Amino acid sequence: MTTIGTPLSPSATKVMLLGSGELGREVLIALQRLGVETIAVDRYDNAPGQQVAHHSRTIAMTDPEQLKALIEAEKPDLVVPEIEAIATPMLEALEADGVVRVIPTARAARLTMDREGIRRLAAETLGLPTSPYQFCDSLEQLQAAIDGGIGYPCIVKPVMSSSGKGQSKIDGPADVKAAWDYAMAGGRVSHGRIIVEGFIDFDYEITLLTVRARGVDAQVETHFCAPIGHKQVSGDYVESWQPHPMSSVALERARVIAREVTNNLGGQGLFGVELFVKGDDVWFSEVSPRPHDTGMVTMITQWQNEFELHARAILGLPVNTTLKTPGASAVIYGGVDAKGIVFDDVERALQVPQTDIRLFGKPESFVKRRMGVALAYDNDLDVARRHALEAASRVKPRAV
Ligand SMILES: Nc1ncnc2c1ncn2[C@@H]1O[C@H](COP(=O)(O)OP(=O)(O)OP(=O)(O)O)[C@@H](O)[C@H]1O
Ligand SMILES: [Mg+2]
Repeated sequence: MTTIGTPLSPSATKVMLLGSGELGREVLIALQRLGVETIAVDRYDNAPGQQVAHHSRTIAMTDPEQLKALIEAEKPDLVVPEIEAIATPMLEALEADGVVRVIPTARAARLTMDREGIRRLAAETLGLPTSPYQFCDSLEQLQAAIDGGIGYPCIVKPVMSSSGKGQSKIDGPADVKAAWDYAMAGGRVSHGRIIVEGFIDFDYEITLLTVRARGVDAQVETHFCAPIGHKQVSGDYVESWQPHPMSSVALERARVIAREVTNNLGGQGLFGVELFVKGDDVWFSEVSPRPHDTGMVTMITQWQNEFELHARAILGLPVNTTLKTPGASAVIYGGVDAKGIVFDDVERALQVPQTDIRLFGKPESFVKRRMGVALAYDNDLDVARRHALEAASRVKPRAV
């Protein structure tokens, strides 16, 4: 049974978001619409989600003691990790002690916070197809891994990093040292550990949003959204669209992989399963146990977008993953390094037919920081993509 109380009263159903960026903000809005009391946590003040939540708290989420103190003080019914960089062993301890329920599970948050946990689970425990890979702690080990079978071209990534940070492609022996040095500079914490992966020459890559939610008999069921195609530039998403056309064989394989990995991670919620596809072959790449940036397109394409699906699934409510219309999203970058910027020509952007935008309200802009997203729908995916890109390009960020 799902009972929801009254916010700001003793009966409130309280949910704490750990990470309150643009994705967290939409989850918070979805929760608020269902009458949930929300606590938005981030490492800096006035993060996008903090601007829309009942309460905002700023702490170092990588510090186990700060995290524990906050959870014990606020006593949320659910803790929803929205980013990877969190003291996940502390979440596991608090979950084990029955202090709090972590979404989807504390173990899932720990396994997906670095590339090693999730890759070993997918490839070695579950036997899912992945790129060939090896973990290395030194330049010598990296060279040995490449010579010993990974070969060229290959990709080097810090074990702890996201959004393509510290990641580079190696085409031949001359690139190895530069890739190592770049990875050392770009990792989240300086563990000095990297993964080297054989390069998969895929036809396209998708995000398969997969939802574990309770059905009528209270059993957890798996639901799939239509596949989302996307374009990555230096490991960061710039454009996405839905549905990406796929052969029925490839789609079925993608679903089998997504079901297996999310079954193992367990709990309730939405997952973004990243897959590479070539012909009918499908490789698992990685998974986010939470809404995915490429899934922002669902704000215009689905009856229940990925954030609403996540909110419903974690509260034990039924979900509907039906597509409403084909559509696309395109990222709006900051373009400048400055605080408190303004966006000119927003009306010109929205004059592009069948479009919408979100501006995230981030207090500080960087040239390559994602500050907003343009959305477009059309039965013709090419038209939707063109319109999303056009609308995004018409928004003009400017320092004041
Ligand atoms: N083994 C590979 N072969 C070919 N391309 C790859 C491989 N690994 C990564 N890529 C490309 O680089 C992109 C980013 O890689 P990955 O998802 O592992 O990094 P990330 O830093 O976690 O990115 P994000 O946080 O944006 O998902 C992929 O979406 C894909 O386009
Ligand atoms: Mg990725």
